[in-house]
Amino acid sequence: MKEIKIKRWKLAQKQEGEFWNSLSFEEIERGFELVEKKYKNIFNDISIRFKPKKIIDVGAGPIPLSTIFSGDVERYAIDPLLSYYENINPNIKEKVNYVKGLIEKTPYQNEFFDCCVFRNVLDHVLSPQRSLEEVHRILKKDGIVILGINIFPPITRMFKKIFEFFSLPGREELHPHFFSERDLCKIMHSLNFEVVERYEFSEPYIKDLKNKIAKFFWTVISFFDNLFGSKNEEYEIIFVCKKI
Ligand SMILES: C[S@@+](CC[C@H](N)C(=O)[O-])C[C@H]1O[C@@H](n2cnc3c(N)ncnc32)[C@H](O)[C@@H]1O
Repeated sequence: MKEIKIKRWKLAQKQEGEFWNSLSFEEIERGFELVEKKYKNIFNDISIRFKPKKIIDVGAGPIPLSTIFSGDVERYAIDPLLSYYENINPNIKEKVNYVKGLIEKTPYQNEFFDCCVFRNVLDHVLSPQRSLEEVHRILKKDGIVILGINIFPPITRMFKKIFEFFSLPGREELHPHFFSERDLCKIMHSLNFEVVERYEFSEPYIKDLKNKIAKFFWTVISFFDNLFGSKNEEYEIIFVCKKI
């Protein structure tokens, strides 16, 4: 998994900041409620099985997902856009020890956390490999990572990678990286994480595209994905992984 150039990452981050700034706090809360619905049972299950006490939310955004964990837990978060998020959500640090920074190099000591929430972030970072190595370093043995990420079917993914490689108009400005489930399993295993659970949620995106040409183009590509036996649209997978 390749590290991207800092210039490319900064461009994605600029667009990420603009995206969140374009929404009202009520819209962000409504979006959060939808994500919460997906993750609530998963977090409940993790609370019962693994009883995490110190949780880090990586790339936590304006409302950290780790706030769903209830009870006697210490919540931490790290995100380079914290200054933006403090303007959007002035109570952001109320329940969470939130710092500005990158997951590739965090200020925490080895084995400080027993759980890491890593949702919708791996395809945004500078270096997926270094990010996951750092997560491994700061997690205790038997610590849990909840890795949520959107996956495109193979032909769509190949085209998205080509658009990214040649910086073609219509590329995914916010997402410099694209993964298959196989890529993710491979890297998690190579870093000594065991995948203990897998969940999947459909995340269709083509219907929301505003540009008619883009909509037509990705509909045709997704038709071929479907024809060759893959899903025809994007989906979110959540891997619950244990550090072994
Ligand atoms: C799509 S948002 C996801 C926010 C939240 N996790 C969620 O699921 O709604 C991606 C987040 O990753 C953050 N991010 C990008 N690069 C990062 C890095 N190297 N280290 C930590 N966070 C990063 C961005 O600033 C942004 O807040």
